[in-house]
Amino acid sequence: ARILLLNGPNLDRLGQREPDVYGLETLAAIETGLKALADELGHELLCFQSNAEHELIERLHAAADEGCDWLIFNPAAFTHTSIALRDAVLASRLPMMEVHLSNPMAREPFRHHSHFSDIAVACISGLGAFGYECALRAVDQRLKQAA
Ligand code: DQA
Repeated sequence: ARILLLNGPNLDRLGQREPDVYGLETLAAIETGLKALADELGHELLCFQSNAEHELIERLHAAADEGCDWLIFNPAAFTHTSIALRDAVLASRLPMMEVHLSNPMAREPFRHHSHFSDIAVACISGLGAFGYECALRAVDQRLKQAA
């Protein structure tokens, strides 16, 4: 199957950005590892990161047109602010795994609300980069159950 890994603002700074909160691994390293795992599991992983809300929205529109099957999405700070991105996920009709490196519920109150959690199949938070791997394995399990 074709799976889109989407990452929101400031995640291009992983590795140097608040490493105590987000870990030392870069996004490039995470994407490389996940692509290899997707390959092993017989899937195709497309990766896209942007700091711009409209680019993420456009990537979601394109994913729907491209025949993507699943979405793994860390909307970063847009988690807490973007109704437009939520609407784009709904418009894409892609089932979504929500991923956060940190556990937003254990942080500042303004991070406690997510505009995505109620439309996500599952939410994985607080496991660092391993959360993306968990999400990919969970997508694989769902796809194999459905087959
Ligand atoms: C984040 C959590 C968000 O609150 C924050 O704005 C981020 C990253 C995470 O992965 O832990 O940028 O989504």
